[in-house]
Amino acid sequence: MKRYSRITGTGSFLPPQRLTNADLVARLAADGIDTSDEWIVERTGIRARHFCAPNVAASDLAFEACRSALLAARRNANEIDLIIVATSTPDMVFPSTAAILQHKLAQSNPAAAGIAGCPAFDVQAVCSGFVYALTLADSLIQTGAANRALVVGAEVFSRILNFKDRTTCVLFGDGAGAVVLEVSDKPGILASELHADGKHVGILCVPGNVSGGQILGDPTLKMDGQAVFKLAVGVLADVARSVLAKAGKTEADVDWLIPHQANIRIMQSTAKKLKLGPDKVVVTVDQHGNTSAASIPLALDVAVRDGRIQPGDTLLLEGVGGGFTWGATLLNM
Ligand code: UT7
Repeated sequence: MKRYSRITGTGSFLPPQRLTNADLVARLAADGIDTSDEWIVERTGIRARHFCAPNVAASDLAFEACRSALLAARRNANEIDLIIVATSTPDMVFPSTAAILQHKLAQSNPAAAGIAGCPAFDVQAVCSGFVYALTLADSLIQTGAANRALVVGAEVFSRILNFKDRTTCVLFGDGAGAVVLEVSDKPGILASELHADGKHVGILCVPGNVSGGQILGDPTLKMDGQAVFKLAVGVLADVARSVLAKAGKTEADVDWLIPHQANIRIMQSTAKKLKLGPDKVVVTVDQHGNTSAASIPLALDVAVRDGRIQPGDTLLLEGVGGGFTWGATLLNM
């Protein structure tokens, strides 16, 4: 029997502190930074984002998202045999946020203790991280190395923003999304493709590092927005077509496009190139901002829970971000 993998449950979590553009504009104005709701909405489509409290880490958001995904899949944590967390804002330099998450899940109730011992690791592919993590988990399930995985995107980007740089600090937010991915005799994941091109490292990065107990370089996010925009628009339609061709499908087979939520203009342009109407695109960037690796599983969970995504629907997930990285996954729910 061929082994496939299939999503059996989704979950997400947003920290309670929600900042509208008006809230952020007022906060930035107090520091002499000039921006406006009009500029942010017109250039990005963002209207609000969520920020974590100082004592909350990526693993805390991931934990809540996983609890909700496990409930949706009707699974207990002790049935999980693989954890992959996509994040660029880990709790620590090491160990992985996935290992910390595993321990939090193991301690959450006596019946969950069995999750301890399964492989757990992080994937670092910035905003493409969830597509990378899902592709890896799918491969491990296909080979028989795992049967039931938690695949998570979790970010606290508010920690790495420079609130004196209006070109970046209005764009990002915090949150987490998770799926339970299980072995199945029917295909859930139909095809995936991943890419990276390191020559573009400088257009989107956090250049700082830790050395000898000091932070060397700037530990906040730097982005050449226009360069990222151009590259993103160029690669997303191509990788989508390539994944559709691999699966023997066409654009007409796609029920929902769930792109990385960075900018509504990038999402609309990709949908147009793929001849998909705006009603087929799941949009959460207006309410979440850009949550990097968390944005795709967050959007997926929103559309599953509000009833738009139904069992049997065909979804096209697309990630793009720092590295430069990009990738796509076509799947049946
Ligand atoms: O998650 C990974 C993927 N990331 C992305 O996909 C992001 C891709 N890039 C973008 O989404 C867009 O490039 C941005 C939203 C970042 C910027 O939009 P843009 O239309 O490319 O604006 P711009 O950088 O060309 O700036 C236009 C103007 C500039 O003023 P001048 O030089 O024309 O006078 C900026 O200084 O807007 C100004 N500006 C702002 N004004 C008010 C830049 N940021 C702000 C701001 N408020 N927050």
